[in-house]
Amino acid sequence: MTKEEARRRIDRLRRELEKHNYQYYVLNKPLISDFEYDTLMHELMELEKRFPEFADPNSPSQRVGADINKEFVQAEHEYPMLSLGNTYTREELIDFDTRIRKEVHEPFKYVAELKYDGTAISLIYEHGELVQAITRGDGTRGDVVTDNIRTIRSIPLVLQGSGWPERFIMRGEVFMPFEGFNRLNEERIRNGEEPFANPRNAAAGTLKLQNPSLVAKRPLDCFLYYLLGEDLPTDSHYENLQIARTWGFKVPEVMERYEGLEGVFRFIDRWDVQRHELPYATDGVVIKVDSLRLQERLGSTAKNPRWAIAYKFKAEQAKTKLLSVDFQVGRTGAITPVANLEPVQLAGTVVKRASLYNDDQIRQLDLHLGDTVYVEKGGEIIPKITGVDLTQRPPDAVPVEFVRNCPACGTPLVREEGEAVWYCPNEEGCPPQIKGRIEHFISRKAMNIEGLGEETIDLLFREGLVHDITDLYDLRPEQLAPLERLGEKSAMNIIRSIEKSKEVPFERVLYALGIRYVGETVARTLARRFRSIDALAEASFEELVETEEIGEKIAQSIRQFFQKPKNLEIIRKLKEKGVTLEAAPEEAEEAPPLLAGKTFVVSGVFEHFSRDGIKETIVKYGGKVSLSVSSRTSYLLAGDKPGPNKMEKATSLGVPVISEDEFLKMIGENRP
Ligand code: IVH
Repeated sequence: MTKEEARRRIDRLRRELEKHNYQYYVLNKPLISDFEYDTLMHELMELEKRFPEFADPNSPSQRVGADINKEFVQAEHEYPMLSLGNTYTREELIDFDTRIRKEVHEPFKYVAELKYDGTAISLIYEHGELVQAITRGDGTRGDVVTDNIRTIRSIPLVLQGSGWPERFIMRGEVFMPFEGFNRLNEERIRNGEEPFANPRNAAAGTLKLQNPSLVAKRPLDCFLYYLLGEDLPTDSHYENLQIARTWGFKVPEVMERYEGLEGVFRFIDRWDVQRHELPYATDGVVIKVDSLRLQERLGSTAKNPRWAIAYKFKAEQAKTKLLSVDFQVGRTGAITPVANLEPVQLAGTVVKRASLYNDDQIRQLDLHLGDTVYVEKGGEIIPKITGVDLTQRPPDAVPVEFVRNCPACGTPLVREEGEAVWYCPNEEGCPPQIKGRIEHFISRKAMNIEGLGEETIDLLFREGLVHDITDLYDLRPEQLAPLERLGEKSAMNIIRSIEKSKEVPFERVLYALGIRYVGETVARTLARRFRSIDALAEASFEELVETEEIGEKIAQSIRQFFQKPKNLEIIRKLKEKGVTLEAAPEEAEEAPPLLAGKTFVVSGVFEHFSRDGIKETIVKYGGKVSLSVSSRTSYLLAGDKPGPNKMEKATSLGVPVISEDEFLKMIGENRP
């Protein structure tokens, strides 16, 4: 066989096999037997082995996943992955509709879809091929899990048909059907492993496996429900998805378009019943405005789009007995009550514990030990108690009393004005708080120190090696190695990881400090505004609340943190150890707001910028970036090969089209 013949045959086999994948996994209509399929696959794999020069990550042979362990790198989402606002009643949907009609004074349609209960994924396609798959992560950046995603047979690696944009993003939900989920759990129980709480966790956990060949063995599937990009075929979400189906995507069949809410309500009623017959988990209905133009006009808040909303089905309920209540101490000292229940079946799993949130909830429910309670499972892993069946209360039942002293250290608890949560104020001496802070500090989104689990932290604390986060930087391998289950190699890895954490950027260090109410987003905002720990420590309450997104509660908490001598001591030590406590200088340079008030649409390929780079530059100079050309667009910034639709639209609306050079002149730079 010549090279050329091999190339042609490989090509042919790949197309054949992908077609059969599609028939089997997307359409559920296999055309050939498993044996015939295996024979073709075998031939392909043999040829790929003989002619390695034709290797291709998107070959169907790659769907079994390479047997290698690889850590994920992270990537930024080009368009953030927002979540949907939740509603539980028709009234709330009517409010949603009213809000839209205030903004939109023309007829429009809604699309109703099922809300699939899995884990969201963002797939990037270029030139008709899958190039990258990113998990939701924190919505702005996620893990790159392309190799794992390639193992999902219903996801096309190479697109069929025609008309797809050169580059676009397809979003959807990776899920594990009930059948596969049950099989997997049975197997895990047989092997003495912890079973997954629900199919959603199983899907999310599987995508996070670092060995694609293991992922390939798990029964994952994926529905695609959201297209993003610059040159989508039509202005209709619904029609675009129908077209995307012809490209080979598994677009759900259950999807309807309605002129108004009445149809949406009928859809909800129908599926609230019929969903119980579906072979996979759904937890509601998603309602979307169909027109992309209107979607863009409606825009989004920091978290949710204004053009879509979720209606959640009522959670399933069970009744059981309350046996006792435990009180747990978190890293901030917050005390969380947890109910121990008589085990009961609920939505396919056995429930033994339920969260109780706080003291007020216990009182509101007037909870007594021995009560018969209603438990519900929403999206959470831990179900919650939602009510008490008073008719079944034993006559001698005693009310559940919230503890007055910390269950870990005995310190009397405190509760701030207007707050529902009780705290243990013994920050410096209460073991679960100390350990919790260290666990938070080393966690992935914080300092990302690897090799130290909850148990090792516990051990280090008990051995007196670590009392606070700064002690981590004094650890020596010979102190770690003799500890239970560690050994020299792990000890060295831990030390190396601790050393590496000194390079973690300031915003994450700030998050890692565990200041109450300072989550990742707030930490980022603070790092950008104040730029160093010293500046933040000196910031007044007024300066803090003037910062965007920082309210009084957060400001107060920050002030309190920096007033405590112990915290200042920790910061001093971290500085001494070389931990990054200042923002990187290049971020500091502020660009003049030369583009303020201007909205740009970007299209084509640029000489001096990547597509993201040019958008960032626009924002840096105070301008805005929009996805499609409208009468509000100030300029269409066109590089090489701009999208024809955009050019046409700009011309017809009289929107000026400018070149990269003209753009550079606008910002007074010759080059980025
Ligand atoms: S559209 C901005 N459609 O629900 C809107 N999402 O809370 C993008 N989800 O992260 C999502 N089924 O993981 C959309 N038919 C559907 C969905 C769906 C499930 C998930 C998705 C998203 C979350 C939002």
